[in-house]
Amino acid sequence: MRKKITIVGAGNVGATAAHWACTKELGDIVLVDVIEGVPQGKALDLQEAGPIEGYDVKIIGSNSYEETRGSDVVVITAGIARKPGMSREDLLDINARIVKEVTEKIVALSPQSILIIVSNPLDVMAYVALKVSQFPKNRVIGMAGVLDTARFRTFIAMELGVSVEDIQAFVLGGHGDSMVPLVRYSNVGGIPIEKLLTREQIDRIVDRTRKGGGEIVNLLKTGSAYYAPSAAVIQMVEAILKDKKRILPCAAYLEGEYGIKGVYVGVPVLLGANGIEKIFEIELTKEESEALRTSAEDVRKSMERLTL
Ligand code: NAI
Ligand code: 2OP
Repeated sequence: MRKKITIVGAGNVGATAAHWACTKELGDIVLVDVIEGVPQGKALDLQEAGPIEGYDVKIIGSNSYEETRGSDVVVITAGIARKPGMSREDLLDINARIVKEVTEKIVALSPQSILIIVSNPLDVMAYVALKVSQFPKNRVIGMAGVLDTARFRTFIAMELGVSVEDIQAFVLGGHGDSMVPLVRYSNVGGIPIEKLLTREQIDRIVDRTRKGGGEIVNLLKTGSAYYAPSAAVIQMVEAILKDKKRILPCAAYLEGEYGIKGVYVGVPVLLGANGIEKIFEIELTKEESEALRTSAEDVRKSMERLTL
């Protein structure tokens, strides 16, 4: 039987994620949004691109949830996005209400699904979905690290003038300005980046990575990034549906790992058919641990503003 992917929120990230999922033929897709006609129109448009692109999946758009019944993976992108001058935190109250409502509707019809949360502020919204769904923590995952890491890899490749394919890197922490790009664990074709770039170059790349979301918001002016975010979420969906056992940085609910408890923070995880199958606790220096804890505390401060 074909896999079923539901994407809630048929805006920039949701619709582009549906596009990537179609081209990869990951399964049949249901696109849900509150705006009448938009999910239906985008779904039909994507369906009609199938004969040209050569993909064969069923894609349905809807304003209700009945069609989502029995989904394997559900991606939640519903909510509002940042505009210039807004931080991810400014979205908290509105998006918490939306994510709560969406999660309730999803779990009623897809109690065995794996939820991937995208709506911002990401780490807090993942916590909302965990609490509301009452799913085990391995089945509620936040997307941010794959995106932040992709930005980090892109900037390293641009600085060195080398292929991005040869760059291994990762970013820990919350999806905010205190995220922790891990320089020590980043390499180009196996060569540590510290051997190829000066401290000044690395600091500049780290800063640009931390502010990567804001850079796109300031350019677009009407919303936030969506090509790289949607590609990132579909990499996670693929890892789960194909049980690939990939090691990817994802927002996971920590219960003591890295000395952090009761918050969602980006860490390296094993992603497979059961969602987060393992959290890797890698060795960190004192400075790296402190940076990770500071980032986690920033997430906790936002969580304290939540009224569920
Ligand atoms: P968008 O505004 O293009 O799309 C959001 C969609 O959600 C809209 O079509 C809207 O009608 C829909 N929506 C609102 N309330 C809904 C509800 N109750 N049920 C169903 N649909 C509902 O925004 P975009 O660019 O797609 O971003 C979506 C979210 O993802 C934002 O919160 C944004 O900040 C976040 N984001 C997170 C990233 C991450 O790394 N975690 C990266 C990029 C975006
Ligand atoms: C980003 O990093 C807005 O969180 C979104 O692009």
